[in-house]
Amino acid sequence: MRIIIAGFGTVGQGFAEVLHNKADMLPVKVVAAFDSKSYAADSNGLDPLALVERKKRTGAVGDHGLTGGTDVMDDVDYDVLVEVSPTNIEDGGAGLRHIEHALKRGKDVITVNKGPLALKFRELSRLAEKKKALLRFEGSVGGAMPIINLCRENLKGERVRSIRGIFNGTCNFILSRMDNGLPFEQALKEAQQLGYAESDPTYDIEGIDAACKVVILANSIFRRNVTFSDVSITGITSVSAEAIALAADRGMVIRLIGEVSDKTLEVSPRLVPKGHPLSISGTLNTARILTDLAGPITVSGKGAGRIETASAILSDLMAIMDRRR
Ligand SMILES: NC(=O)c1ccc[n+]([C@@H]2O[C@H](COP(=O)([O-])OP(=O)(O)OC[C@H]3O[C@@H](n4cnc5c(N)ncnc54)[C@H](OP(=O)(O)O)[C@@H]3O)[C@@H](O)[C@H]2O)c1
Repeated sequence: MRIIIAGFGTVGQGFAEVLHNKADMLPVKVVAAFDSKSYAADSNGLDPLALVERKKRTGAVGDHGLTGGTDVMDDVDYDVLVEVSPTNIEDGGAGLRHIEHALKRGKDVITVNKGPLALKFRELSRLAEKKKALLRFEGSVGGAMPIINLCRENLKGERVRSIRGIFNGTCNFILSRMDNGLPFEQALKEAQQLGYAESDPTYDIEGIDAACKVVILANSIFRRNVTFSDVSITGITSVSAEAIALAADRGMVIRLIGEVSDKTLEVSPRLVPKGHPLSISGTLNTARILTDLAGPITVSGKGAGRIETASAILSDLMAIMDRRR
């Protein structure tokens, strides 16, 4: 199986390392990899670890200047595109162009890039179906926490009634620190110092990241036809120290909860009783899936991280290998 890796930052490099570490169980070749400015390509297969080392040393994954990712995709024969370029929630950005380009040519796609899925889920799914290509995106919601394939494959016979969850580890870290008496600004600063929050934290603290995930769950598990603008979003910037203290007096914590069902599509700070599965502290993601037969199922896992997110990509890759065998 021949792979192109589009985007070679945190996740792209983590995935390359996983391919190296698991080479004995994976009959795959990386035939090209590209970042924002350069690319490397070899139809005989590139050494994934050498790509990582080169990227770390020089800042570029390859020797060749990049004119456009789709040019590389046209020049190299491949089977699967692993799309891990930055999320763009305005218009889907380069990630959307790469995914559409691959699907139009009947190539299978694995992505953890939320922008294209949150904006164009229905179109991309239809395109994949029409071209008999596979589109998989486990790591786009909750990183290493299994949820999409769990609901679509393991819980296939169930009717999922609702999913409520903590889908943004940065917000959860900030709210957990506020439980300990830290004001919002100080908790945010700590999250930034620890590398959990970006220097511009808007995407996380305004609930945008969690909303993208809620949209992906709504479309992929509830078969709804919704997009990012359909989500009712309230972030955590208005959660005051007083509100946290009042909640604590009543045996509650405040958590940023994403909820999706046939009718609901919402991200907002909510009161959660202490001890409830969604009252967790720290950076973990957690989801409570309510099904008709099995009842409530709770999953939890690392929502981000280079190797953790690569683990979700690997599971999608192995599923594609099984299907294509
Ligand atoms: N980090 C996580 O734990 C995590 C978890 C779940 C999902 N995700 C998603 O995974 C994706 C990648 O995240 P990341 O943390 O790896 O981001 P990152 O470290 O910023 O890496 C992004 C990579 O994409 C490259 N890139 C930028 N514009 C490009 C373009 N037009 N064409 C091709 N490549 C381009 C960048 O190139 P340069 O290196 O040249 O700048 C960089 O190599 C994002 O969509 C993110 O939302 C990340």
